[in-house]
Amino acid sequence: MMYSRNKFNRLTRNEYLPEIIMIIVMIIMIHFCNTYYEYTGNQYVLIDDDHLNEFCPLYPSTMQGSKDVIMLENAEWSDSPNVQMGGIFAPNDCKSRQELAVIIPFRNREYHLKLLLKYLHPYLQKQKRSYHVFVVEQIGNVTFNKGIIMNVAFQEALKTRSTFNCFIFHDVDLVPENDYNVYECDKKAPRHLSPAVDELRYVLMYNHLVGGVLALSKEQFTKVNGWSNLYWGWGAEDDDMAERIRNSSYRLSRPPNHIGRYKMIRHEKRERAVNRHKLLQGWKRYLNDGVKQLDKIDYTIENVHQEKLYTHILVNLTRSATHQLDYLLE
Ligand SMILES: *[C@@H]1O[C@H](CO)[C@@H](O)[C@H](O)[C@H]1NC(C)=O
Ligand SMILES: *[C@@H]1O[C@H](CO)[C@@H](O)[C@H](O)[C@H]1NC(C)=O
Ligand SMILES: *[C@@H]1O[C@H](CO)[C@@H](O)[C@H](O)[C@H]1NC(C)=O
Repeated sequence: MMYSRNKFNRLTRNEYLPEIIMIIVMIIMIHFCNTYYEYTGNQYVLIDDDHLNEFCPLYPSTMQGSKDVIMLENAEWSDSPNVQMGGIFAPNDCKSRQELAVIIPFRNREYHLKLLLKYLHPYLQKQKRSYHVFVVEQIGNVTFNKGIIMNVAFQEALKTRSTFNCFIFHDVDLVPENDYNVYECDKKAPRHLSPAVDELRYVLMYNHLVGGVLALSKEQFTKVNGWSNLYWGWGAEDDDMAERIRNSSYRLSRPPNHIGRYKMIRHEKRERAVNRHKLLQGWKRYLNDGVKQLDKIDYTIENVHQEKLYTHILVNLTRSATHQLDYLLE
């Protein structure tokens, strides 16, 4: 008897049809509300609500949305008449919301840098950001160590201006496509600005990915103790950063995929770090290996000078630069 009753219920299921339709409509409505919201408000700003009106808007009318990025065969250094020597800009018609230090780690990629700066300067100016571009280059003949030079750039930037409150670490080979992707730090958590990269078919590869373009406030960077100094060669120092962020109880902030879009400038394969997986397993050492330990690293700043479009920091590293931290690897 039970069997036939169930069957009967199933047959009359359509009496729930109005409810089912209503639920579907609600899901669609929530979806649309969300995408609308994502354009304008999925980040927590650093400014107090009471003072919000005194500053440039988060989405000034000068923004244009998506723009085609054209890869040129021979990029030249572009003219940016509004940029001050050293790669500095501030809007003159409103009060800037944050002071950004844009930090680009670099080695032997002049073409990439030319192309990136050609797009990045007008992009940030349309957003009415107040910013200063630092290109930090590793010289000397040893393997690349991106973590150390980014930590060095953080410290050097603060020496030039102690009021920087947002640090944007920017790979040289990623050009932003949509200027609604505001270069601004999020009060609650580090913000991963590059979830969608064309080479990766514009999808986020894994949820704790932070590579590419990452914005941290000064407090956030200090709390996670900056980058690890121990990764030589390419790869995994960003995954190490993801662990630092997670262990510091932050939930990553991100623009939605249709906004956080980037074009990657192609390049030849790079030297991968051989021991990167092993290193990554030891991320828990992070309070003993980061920007606070820079004084234990043997590096020299050979030069800091102002170019037309950026401030150039040249850092010389030797292979034994991290010997005082090697005990952490045992
Ligand atoms: C880097 O430092 C090493 C050791 O002090 C020195 O021999 C080398 O000439 C420096 N390289 C550059 C490019 O300044
Ligand atoms: C620099 O590296 C190249 C190639 O790895 C090597 O041939 C050269 O001898 C090195 N130069 C110095 C000064 O160590
Ligand atoms: C951070 O890592 C330590 C060591 O594994 C662990 O004890 C602690 O609970 C972690 N904290 C958070 C917030 O994940």
